[in-house]
Amino acid sequence: MIKNKKIVLVGCGAVGTSFIYSAVNQGIAQDYVLIDVFKDAAIGNEMDIADAQAVLPVSFNSIKAGDYADCKDADIIVITAGRPQKPGETRLEMVADNAKIMKQIATQIKKSGFSGITIIASNPVDVLTYVYKTVTGYDSSKVISSGTTLDSARLRRLLAAKLGVMPNTVEAYLLGEHGDSSVAAWSKATVMGKTVQEYIKEGVISEKDLSEIKDEATHLAYKIIEKKRATYYGVGVCLAAIAKAILKNEQKMLLVGAHLNGEYENENIYTSVPCIIGRNGIEKIIKWNLTSKEQTLFNKSCEQLKEVFNTAKKAIA
Ligand SMILES: NC(=O)c1ccc[n+]([C@@H]2O[C@H](COP(=O)([O-])OP(=O)(O)OC[C@H]3O[C@@H](n4cnc5c(N)ncnc54)[C@H](O)[C@@H]3O)[C@@H](O)[C@H]2O)c1
Repeated sequence: MIKNKKIVLVGCGAVGTSFIYSAVNQGIAQDYVLIDVFKDAAIGNEMDIADAQAVLPVSFNSIKAGDYADCKDADIIVITAGRPQKPGETRLEMVADNAKIMKQIATQIKKSGFSGITIIASNPVDVLTYVYKTVTGYDSSKVISSGTTLDSARLRRLLAAKLGVMPNTVEAYLLGEHGDSSVAAWSKATVMGKTVQEYIKEGVISEKDLSEIKDEATHLAYKIIEKKRATYYGVGVCLAAIAKAILKNEQKMLLVGAHLNGEYENENIYTSVPCIIGRNGIEKIIKWNLTSKEQTLFNKSCEQLKEVFNTAKKAIA
């Protein structure tokens, strides 16, 4: 008998429930379990999403509010627990509070006997993913930070708007931190098969435009938070894309936070690089030749993340 695919969500707030909503609409798994420290958030969302079951174009088997014992036979756990970013606060400033929450969650997941793949979105995401990996001791291929999946989606949309084309014709990527120090790998960006450098030579776009697009992609979260206190739909769809790549074994390239062990000149760090995602989680880290400017910026971003990870380590010691 083929086993149902099961996803457990830890953290039933705006981001977590946007992910579940996206997942049920796409028919990514059959069984869903919701966990939250505030039990009513899990129960209320169970009831709300179950209401869609009879009408959805794709079916799922079950959704229930549960607890950590439900993690044992899960295929994927998605962690979006934590407190949200305050207006004006950087993701890195949230580290101490959320590192303690992550340690608590990681300990309970480990105790459940879970052996699947974990995707983490709680901020600062790469640092908390490293905290989770350190506490659980799970293999790094099975512990994934959502990293710059969302940032790269923003970059694609903004570049597409500038060129007057659809975002799905654009391949463009932000590497490094999910945050202010991310690096636009313009040397690897293409639009309808042509490199961005070709568009610059043709005078269609300028270096200044690219720099403005990168800044806007990086700062969009602050703008959205100012208007509606949190961002969640975009990241919800990104988390669903990562989960789907795993459960459908898509072998898809995504920019996710991975544990570096010498790749891109860095080690002992989680940060975003291009990865192949399939049934085993991170199947492969793709090695790009960055320009020396891109590599220098990437190294700086890593330095900054390492410092924050040290703060997180102290918070959970
Ligand atoms: N990675 C990304 O691209 C991205 C994008 C947006 C937001 N985020 C991050 O996602 C996280 C969640 O944001 P949100 O807007 O959904 O916040 P939210 O406050 O709406 O939801 C957080 C949920 O976590 C729960 N929670 C807190 N501690 C818990 C614990 N110990 N165990 C289980 N559940 C617990 C809360 O009760 C709440 O329901 C934040 O860290 C935010 O910064 C990440």
